[in-house]
Amino acid sequence: MGLLSPSILSSDFSDLKEQIRILEVGGADWIHCDVMDGLFVPNLTFGPIVIGGLNKITNLPLDVHLMIVNPDKYLNDYYNAGADILTVHQEAVIHLHRTISSIQELGLKAGVSINPATPVKMIESVLENVDLVLVMSVNPGFGGQKFIPYSLKKIEQLKEIKIKHNYDFLIEVDGGIGLDNIEDVLNAGAEIIVAGASIFKSTNPIQTTQELKSIIINRQKETKLK
Ligand code: DX5
Ligand code: ZN
Repeated sequence: MGLLSPSILSSDFSDLKEQIRILEVGGADWIHCDVMDGLFVPNLTFGPIVIGGLNKITNLPLDVHLMIVNPDKYLNDYYNAGADILTVHQEAVIHLHRTISSIQELGLKAGVSINPATPVKMIESVLENVDLVLVMSVNPGFGGQKFIPYSLKKIEQLKEIKIKHNYDFLIEVDGGIGLDNIEDVLNAGAEIIVAGASIFKSTNPIQTTQELKSIIINRQKETKLK
């Protein structure tokens, strides 16, 4: 398994149709949508209305990363807007099992995310149930930050737990990933790569998307040959 989920956070919001087209032409698998509420993180972005708009202009799965407090209150809204994957933060949720079940009962894939300072053991009890784990490799809130190297250890830990228990969750990594470090992240065990600034701040976003995607595909082929 190896997928690219580009984040639109650093893209041109005056023309989202064109940004989505760039990602589709470049071979994106999912569209990563960063929802921020100005409370859980020190920034504000968009909510269900924009997700609903994106749903009209693409058939790619919408990978919705909820950086908000009390996400339980809004799960239905994101479902109705057309989200495919809903990821909540362990740090923002009080009853994690319940939130994950609520997402899955809507028929969506449920993800749990951990901040750089949150150890993997904080989500150990839900790894059996969750569809996806999103490892934050920057402190959430802004695009274009520097990758925190310690995240690699957390990816390795998750991979080890996954193999040991034969769990199904996918390992997604988010923050500071680009052409210079994507291989390290894949080597550690990441299966889904989020990339924002490295795509949209590059001189040729389509080409960068294609390059990131081809590294993921090549890496997948190598793993199959082993
Ligand atoms: C950070 C967001 C990320 C971020 C990734 O709060 O969750 O999805 O936009 O962007 P880059 O690749 O710019 O770090
Ligand atoms: Zn994100």
